[in-house]
Amino acid sequence: MNHANPASKNTKNSSRNTSLGEVLEWKSNRSGIEGKTTLGNFRLTVYQDGIIRVQASLHEQFESNPYSVISSPLSTKFDISEAGNILAVTTALIRLEVDLERFCLSFFDKKGNLLNRDDSMGISWIGTEVTAYKEVQKNEKFVGLGEKTGNLNRFGKAYTNWNTDYFAYGVGDDPLYMSIPFYLGTHDQGSYGIFFDNTHKTVFNFGASTNRFIYFSAEDGDMDYYFFHQPTMAEIISSYTWLTGRMQMPPKWALGFQQCRYSYYPESEVYAVAQGFRDKKMPADVIYLDIHHMEAYKVFTFDGEKFPNAKAMISRLKEKGFKVVVIMDPGIKTQKGYLPYEEGMEKGLFVNYPDGKTYEAQVWPGWCAFPDFTKAETRTWWAEKMAFYTEAGVDGFWTDMNEPASWGQFTPNLIEFDYDGEGASHRKARNIYGMQMARSAQEGAALQNPDKRPFVLTRSGFSGIQRYAAAWTGDNVASEEHMMAGIRLVNSLGLSGVSFAGYDVGGFAGEASKSLFARWMSIGAFAPFYRAHSMINSNDAEPWAFGEEVEEISRNYMKLRYRLLPTIYSKFYSSTQSGLPISASLAVHYPKEDSIYQSAFQNEYLFCDAFLVAPVESYKEITKVYLPQGDWYYLYSDQKHQGNQVIYQDSPLNYLPVYVKAGEVFAMQSDVEHTEDNHDGVLRLHVYKGNAGSEFLYYEDAGEGWEYLKDEYFRRSIRYKADSESLILEKASGTLASHYSKLRIYFHGFENHAVQVNGKSHALQHGNYAFLDKLTEFDPLPEHHHPYFEIKNLPYLELPHTAEELVITHLF
Ligand code: NOJ
Repeated sequence: MNHANPASKNTKNSSRNTSLGEVLEWKSNRSGIEGKTTLGNFRLTVYQDGIIRVQASLHEQFESNPYSVISSPLSTKFDISEAGNILAVTTALIRLEVDLERFCLSFFDKKGNLLNRDDSMGISWIGTEVTAYKEVQKNEKFVGLGEKTGNLNRFGKAYTNWNTDYFAYGVGDDPLYMSIPFYLGTHDQGSYGIFFDNTHKTVFNFGASTNRFIYFSAEDGDMDYYFFHQPTMAEIISSYTWLTGRMQMPPKWALGFQQCRYSYYPESEVYAVAQGFRDKKMPADVIYLDIHHMEAYKVFTFDGEKFPNAKAMISRLKEKGFKVVVIMDPGIKTQKGYLPYEEGMEKGLFVNYPDGKTYEAQVWPGWCAFPDFTKAETRTWWAEKMAFYTEAGVDGFWTDMNEPASWGQFTPNLIEFDYDGEGASHRKARNIYGMQMARSAQEGAALQNPDKRPFVLTRSGFSGIQRYAAAWTGDNVASEEHMMAGIRLVNSLGLSGVSFAGYDVGGFAGEASKSLFARWMSIGAFAPFYRAHSMINSNDAEPWAFGEEVEEISRNYMKLRYRLLPTIYSKFYSSTQSGLPISASLAVHYPKEDSIYQSAFQNEYLFCDAFLVAPVESYKEITKVYLPQGDWYYLYSDQKHQGNQVIYQDSPLNYLPVYVKAGEVFAMQSDVEHTEDNHDGVLRLHVYKGNAGSEFLYYEDAGEGWEYLKDEYFRRSIRYKADSESLILEKASGTLASHYSKLRIYFHGFENHAVQVNGKSHALQHGNYAFLDKLTEFDPLPEHHHPYFEIKNLPYLELPHTAEELVITHLF
């Protein structure tokens, strides 16, 4: 192994590329191997069968990256072997081969299929900039990377991770607010994931301006990535979230409809909006207080004129079933006498210049200091300050402007952050700042209200943000293309571990047309986070502000959302366990079907596993829909379609194309005004006949608090088995009795008149069923009337709802 490394002669010329070079020595350690090359050091660590970490550094010590990864290597069995120039690390799922001559890595699955291979440039440096170059495999698609615009398949485009405040961004613009350097590759030989754990500015180039390789690079820091392989994309996402964490169970109210505006004030307007929802019989749970709730935009204050008694106002809103979420911006006005500023200065909690002077920049309040959220003491201080809001009854927190944003949008790189004891400049700390603010907000919510589940909504974040907050996609624009782009952003966040995500329904900047707003409200009902928001100086944008037709369409979909809450809540629970998205790009379950990447179909997604949502612009009365393999039922009529084909679908404004996957089961409840409102006590299960079986993990708990961690829940698996023509509701586990005393099961696609329940025959009842109410025909002209769908004579069965096992057979 004493070949000269041709690259090493460039080591001293920092403007030229230098590869890691030849492996000079290596040794095994507890979890893998480590060694030296002509240029630097490397370490390969097995975290579990399907995860291997690759580290390469120019320094003796590897950087630690304390924020994203929360799991340590499991004691997994692996083999190490050396033959010729190849050193191999083999687990039950991955074989990693290292070419010792030039430290090039090849990853194979257990059958020897090549998953991913370094280009011969391998891992290289230009000065401090470190890059990993990778071959592109045949028919390879790249998905993920979190909040990134562009196509589902990222091939051919390059992306930068540098958290950026970007008002009214364009649908192809980059970078935006949040960075998640994790992507999945999928090709003929298999699928894998790569998470590049480096908080510096990073670039992912999936083949822009080159046909030789793809690469990912960082301005500084180590090459430090995790390679994931599993048989399915879903399992890869689960592995990634095993490593970087999963969301906590949110309070149930956070799954309801949320109304925001920049800004609702004074308090009479807040009441009027809240009352509007109740008067209009539109279910809603949350109202937001944006920056005008503050005095001179100073966080931890209420404007005394606009909100003379915030506590009384919030308590009145609660009586109407509303929760209140307030915005928190990081910038602290540098004003003598303003306590948060004085305390921050005194305790040394702000971001400083290297000479110790406080860094100041302008945001809403004028000149501000910035709490250093990468410092534990600052996070705790902020968490304590949040008592100001919780004592007034505030329920949730919205961390905005936490890229951090400032006027001028160009933060000097020399400013210093604690980086939890390690010390870092802005170059390394910027991308993690927003996530640490969200973390502090979550800790504050938990500290102040220990019996309640925190709800934090964040704009900025980094890998692992899902542990602390829900995310929304910032300042979008009221346009059709933004509506579609937002869906891709949310689906991409879902591919990247952030299950709880949404967009500003209606568009933040600009004015939505009537039809756009109606369509957006319909699509938003199928987003994990469902919130309407609009900007200062724009027209009223509540769901009744666009005329009767839009009001009725919005109400229909808001009601549908609330009726679906038993399903949505269950799927949120599943996501806390699996890390899988609630809004899942078709790349999660159908990565090999090329059509899903086509521009006409790339926005389609599975919501809560059962619903294929085919979003369509509001002006299109007919649209093409790609149905993946399997059979699909048009939600509103039960019309059945075969999959693996493109269909033409009428898409009138009052019916968003949604299909139910054959073989699926989902749960519904009666109409409610908000998540804590009383329902009628009947849990409705909808079962769809299909050739494939399914398993639905049904879950209920108190909707709030932590008792569920002590088994206070009602959880059961509901399995549909096509081969035995049966539906099995397993005995429920947990100590909670269900909130529903009756069960009604609707059978879609079945033609049976009786079934057997635990061995006894039960006749089925029949009735017409509609998922959406008929619209009022305001226009007397019949040709302007709206279509209306009803499923005729749908069979159903009514039973008591208990924890006992129910076996329903003879379905066909
Ligand atoms: C920027 C946020 O993205 C937006 O949602 C908010 O309304 C404004 N800041 C004002 O706080």
